[in-house]
Amino acid sequence: TVHERVDTFHDNDQKPVGYGRMLRKEDPRFLRGRGRYVDDVQLPGMLHLAILRSPVAHARIVSIDTSAAEASPGVKAVVTGAMLAQQNLAWMPTLSNDVQAVLATDKVRFQGQEVAFVVAEDRYAARDALELIDVEYDVLDPVIDARRALESDAPLIRDDLDGKTNNHCFDWETGDEAATEAVFARADVVVSQDLVYPRVHPAPMETCGAVADYDAVDGKLRLWSTTQAPHAHRTLYAIVAGLPEHKIQVISPDIGGGFGNKVPIYPGYVCAIVASIVTGKPVKWMEDRSENLISTGFARDYIMRGEIAATRDGRILGIRTNVLADHGAFNGTAAPVKYPAGFFGVFTGSYDIEAAYCKMTAVYTNKAPGGVAYACSFRITEAVYLVERIVDCLADELGMDPAELRLKNFIQPEQFPYTTKTGWVYDSGNYEPTMRLAMEMAGYDELRREQAEKRARGELMGIGIAFFTEAVGAGPRKDMDILGLGMADGCELRVHPTGKAVVRLSVQSQGQGHETTFAQIVAEEIGIPPADIEVLHGDTDNTPFGLGTYGSRSTPVSGAAAALVARKVRDKARIIASGMLEVSVADLEWERGAFHVAGDPGRSVTIQDIALRAHGAGDLPEGIEGGLEAQICYNPSNLTYPHGAYICVVDIDPGTAQVTVRRFIAVDDCGTRINPMIIEGQVHGGLTDGVGMALMEMIAFDEDGNCLGASLMDYLIPTSLEVPDWETGFTVTPSPHHPIGAKGVGESATVGSPPAIVNAVIDALKPFGVRHADMPLTPSRVWDAMRGQARPP
Ligand code: CDP
Repeated sequence: TVHERVDTFHDNDQKPVGYGRMLRKEDPRFLRGRGRYVDDVQLPGMLHLAILRSPVAHARIVSIDTSAAEASPGVKAVVTGAMLAQQNLAWMPTLSNDVQAVLATDKVRFQGQEVAFVVAEDRYAARDALELIDVEYDVLDPVIDARRALESDAPLIRDDLDGKTNNHCFDWETGDEAATEAVFARADVVVSQDLVYPRVHPAPMETCGAVADYDAVDGKLRLWSTTQAPHAHRTLYAIVAGLPEHKIQVISPDIGGGFGNKVPIYPGYVCAIVASIVTGKPVKWMEDRSENLISTGFARDYIMRGEIAATRDGRILGIRTNVLADHGAFNGTAAPVKYPAGFFGVFTGSYDIEAAYCKMTAVYTNKAPGGVAYACSFRITEAVYLVERIVDCLADELGMDPAELRLKNFIQPEQFPYTTKTGWVYDSGNYEPTMRLAMEMAGYDELRREQAEKRARGELMGIGIAFFTEAVGAGPRKDMDILGLGMADGCELRVHPTGKAVVRLSVQSQGQGHETTFAQIVAEEIGIPPADIEVLHGDTDNTPFGLGTYGSRSTPVSGAAAALVARKVRDKARIIASGMLEVSVADLEWERGAFHVAGDPGRSVTIQDIALRAHGAGDLPEGIEGGLEAQICYNPSNLTYPHGAYICVVDIDPGTAQVTVRRFIAVDDCGTRINPMIIEGQVHGGLTDGVGMALMEMIAFDEDGNCLGASLMDYLIPTSLEVPDWETGFTVTPSPHHPIGAKGVGESATVGSPPAIVNAVIDALKPFGVRHADMPLTPSRVWDAMRGQARPP
């Protein structure tokens, strides 16, 4: 294992600077209730907007009568889809090149779809008036099950699309079908398993909302909104509204969690903008919890068949999968254009195999749009679940220990950079030490002994392993763009005359601690303590362009930008220092915060001295302009590939089928670690997410398309009572192409934990002959599995 540096170097007060554990700079304002979220924005004369949503999943709109609502006290405007259509605003592009209704004109296509909105003097008046809008619906049969969507007699959902005659959304394939067929034909053992990754919801603590303020005099729109990608959103608004970008300012203030839910553009944002233009007043829209759960970006919803081929002694030869993807009524995913299935292509996992193939079909259904990357890099969670479940099924079939099977098939350290059979180039990895460390921390052999003893007594204890490789940091602009916008990120650094600095980022924190870690990255490069470095983000007027924060891309992309912009400033500082010390640039040595004359350490200038000279009186070396600042745009050459080994121990009550996660060991490798305390926080949160998905969470629908998970009473999310004390460890395999060797970590734990938990539950149920049961493994599902019945998901 690697010992991490805690205090890399010190400022004059002997406080640690650079990488290491450092309390979060943003916490004082959060702890004192001084965070400023969208709903905290109050503007003079501000009006409030509420949205009328469809009560049914599929219906033709016959008529809408708004007269009673318009007459309701305090109401300023009532707007329907037909009114928006007159301005060509009834439909908007999604981030996946589909279109989505801002307000329904012809049909409603999912329960909760936006039908009309009311603008009123206060929130209550707006909500009351919704009740007075009279909509006549001609109810149609809905398509709720993705398997039904492609049947020839299935109702057509997207009749708005020219020439569309079925509910097919897209097909996608990767790998080599024939080569995979060949390895499957000669394998000793082939195991296949059907798996469902159910529809779940990111459910951030803060729901979505916006305050729009259009100034008709100077033609400028200011929009405070809950967005993980302020610059990308601004460009989309510019395209939709026909305004130039400099006339739109998107401000994303403090955000109470995003997890992918705040990447798409929602109709509510557009409605707030329209409402401000129509009324000439600032307008606030803030959705409630049920609106968030039924209408905003869901995640997963993949029906998968996984197949794995191996030799009798446990050499994995090939993996094949067939996926039916449910994208809801509009394709609202936010994945790079070339990757409609996100990064599902990494389904070959961490194993050195001979062939792989995936075929995917995506369909429209009468459910909310989405398929967002809920704390994962575009469908990697689904891919890791698939491979880690079928590897366990194979271990079961072979009668092999699942740890041993994994160790036998890992990609070896000398094989990196490793090109997978689906074309991904894993940058670096050293899997065995990570796995061994997790096993050592867990006391793996002892756990297996304990399990054998308990089994003999009829007790149900399970041990589950998952080993994952993620692909984060989208991405190289030659391959990756969202709606034509390349996935590079800008960064700007200014050092002030007194040696304090401000760094401006294009990415947007939603609680990940960027104000701290980005200051640490710059501090490490330039020697100014993090406390003296202000991090600005989330305001398009004041930050450079970039595609925002999701898919753990902040550190891989913007973290690299922050390091490189600091190095650019340092290069300029070196030239200024050479003038100050009257030596050549080559004679200067940099040592964390100061340039020294080589061989004469007594002669040195600090970065603060240099900053003052850069802005002060006196000559600067020839060709050097005043000031100490730089800007760059970083285009990553590859993704970064973090990995991790997770071991979960569960106990199941045989009387109630209740699963308790007793222990969870998580060893993560995210390359160079900037702030281990923040990393641990990210891992703890992600593991908790995993418990939710594996055991509790599912957005379900009845046969009429009513969403059954529309409140946190029904959609259960885990609390501290459902989770154990997490046991975390780490290894460090730096990324060879990232300037500081860092890989992303924000989502590793959400990706890796569900299969570890499910594998543990299935392991506990082995005495019942159970080989698989679908998430969420609620007591009723576990009970059914114990009794050999599988209820339809
Ligand atoms: O894009 P997002 O911020 O969600 O994910 P990330 O880039 O993985 O970073 C999450 C948090 O962990 C940030 O505050 C990072 O700076 C921090 N981190 C770290 O300290 N060391 C790493 N190697 C990776 C992330």
